[in-house]
Amino acid sequence: MKTKLSDVVIINIPNVHEKRGKLAVLEKEILPFGINRVYYLYDVPSDAFRGGHAHKEQESLLIALSGSFDVIVDDGWNRKIISLNKPKKGLLIPKGIWREIENFSAGAVCLVLASTVYNENEYIRDYKKFKLFKGS
Ligand code: TYD
Repeated sequence: MKTKLSDVVIINIPNVHEKRGKLAVLEKEILPFGINRVYYLYDVPSDAFRGGHAHKEQESLLIALSGSFDVIVDDGWNRKIISLNKPKKGLLIPKGIWREIENFSAGAVCLVLASTVYNENEYIRDYKKFKLFKGS
């Protein structure tokens, strides 16, 4: 799996900004994958760690719909932390990237648009196995 940290990118979600408020729109041209599942994390305690896994197949887009949190992404060689705190920014995570999510603010909501339906068999939840998978 050749995906690298440079494949993890922020997508600017087009939005309509009016005095009445803002409206963000994600149409299919924006994403490199079709959406097969939507889930969201909410009521997350500030000291909780989420994620801690990689996917063999799934690609995903993470959006801080409300509040903020930090996403640690790791390609087996390098890692970086990306703070998400704007509903108009989406973090695109391709397959084969380890991710951890932490430092949730009060009321934070993490929306995940995923390319696959839930399948535990395509998760890698052990970091050592992830390194083997990547050959790193
Ligand atoms: P997990 O993948 O550990 O969540 P996170 O990566 O946010 O820490 O999932 C937590 C639990 O929820 C686990 O028992 C699997 C289950 N789950 C589903 O049933 N369907 C889903 O779509 C997801 C993402 C998780």
